Amino acid sequence: MSFFGTLFKKKEKSVLGVDIGSSSLKVVQLRKENGQAILETYGEIALGPYGGGEIGQAMNLSAEQITETLKDLLREARVTTRSCGVSIPFARSLLTLVSLPYRADPKEQRTVIEFEARKYIPVPMSEVQFDWFIVPQANPTQSGGKSAKGKADPGGKVEVLLVAVHNDELSLLQKVITDANLSASFYEIEIFSTIRATVDEPIKPVMVLDVGAASTKTYVIEHGVVALSHSISIGSQDITRAIAVSGNLSIARAEILKKEEGLGGADTLGSPELVFSRIFSEARRVLIQYETEHKKSVTSIILTGGGGVTKELGTYAKSIFSIDVRVADPFAKTSAPAFMRSVLEGIGPEFAVAVGLALRKLEEV
Ligand SMILES: Nc1ncnc2c1ncn2[C@@H]1O[C@H](COP(=O)(O)OP(=O)(O)OP(=O)(O)O)[C@@H](O)[C@H]1O
Ligand SMILES: [Mg+2]
Repeated sequence: MSFFGTLFKKKEKSVLGVDIGSSSLKVVQLRKENGQAILETYGEIALGPYGGGEIGQAMNLSAEQITETLKDLLREARVTTRSCGVSIPFARSLLTLVSLPYRADPKEQRTVIEFEARKYIPVPMSEVQFDWFIVPQANPTQSGGKSAKGKADPGGKVEVLLVAVHNDELSLLQKVITDANLSASFYEIEIFSTIRATVDEPIKPVMVLDVGAASTKTYVIEHGVVALSHSISIGSQDITRAIAVSGNLSIARAEILKKEEGLGGADTLGSPELVFSRIFSEARRVLIQYETEHKKSVTSIILTGGGGVTKELGTYAKSIFSIDVRVADPFAKTSAPAFMRSVLEGIGPEFAVAVGLALRKLEEV
């Protein structure tokens, strides 16, 4: 056994995370070595220039255009593997947390959930890919949750997260992936990838704010499960636009200024702060809704997404939410040369989804 083990040692296999964002595509390639996730390569390519738009702006490209862009990215980033996991945009999926009758028997529980789910999913079940997760209960005996030691509590309820993605949406992604000569073993809603890459808190509720180009995704994670999710239709592209309007600048110039100055700049006339105050006030409502419904406090906020890198955003967020705020550092979950650390820290939030996908894919190796 050991002889063959060394002679035919399994070749170290590289895996890829592919994030198809609204403004750019990102890939992260990892390899497992001695139980560690080694960062092999990563890359990003803006969609704007492929559709007559600007860098940093959300685009609505055809599947063919996205495929072409992805092929370019794979080449530019010198990706060497075809095995990948792919993200599904939150905007194209349905996540809802419902309270359903508890059954001690797992088979019966499954039947109840799959039956009840139809009421919450607005299209026929045959048109979607459907999944669900039971939210672990902190104090299950009170609510008749899972750990009632197998005893059915007839009045008990379980909190269940229902997840659905339309088949058409999935087919579109599958086409892009196959046409780019990649092979995906799973498609995952971006939220789950982000959590894997950015959240370490196993129990206490934390809120993630993924500031993308077109929208800001906000969700509360408790026991590693999404307890609440909401999309705010304001993103970092709106900050660029606000800077462009207030300073009478081109979008391209405003984009550069945004990245250089963030919230600290004198030249940007306070525009970024105005946009972020709108994002944060909506996020605050989500947070308060969660805290009221669940009678628990959210202990910290994690900023991620390209917009999460905005200079001085953490300080501003702290002043609004008055709780612990930190910027995500997904590459910290990977192993890379020390001299790259500060670069990776700076760009990490933009790659959170791609890192999370690659980490899941590594588990298959
Ligand atoms: N250093 C930076 N400072 C401020 N904004 C930045 C910085 N880097 C990137 N951004 C902005 O972040 C946005 C892109 O973020 P990200 O890549 O997370 O979005 P996306 O995934 O394409 O969009 P979405 O998640 O909405 O689909 C762009 O609008 C870009 O201008
Ligand atoms: Mg994104």
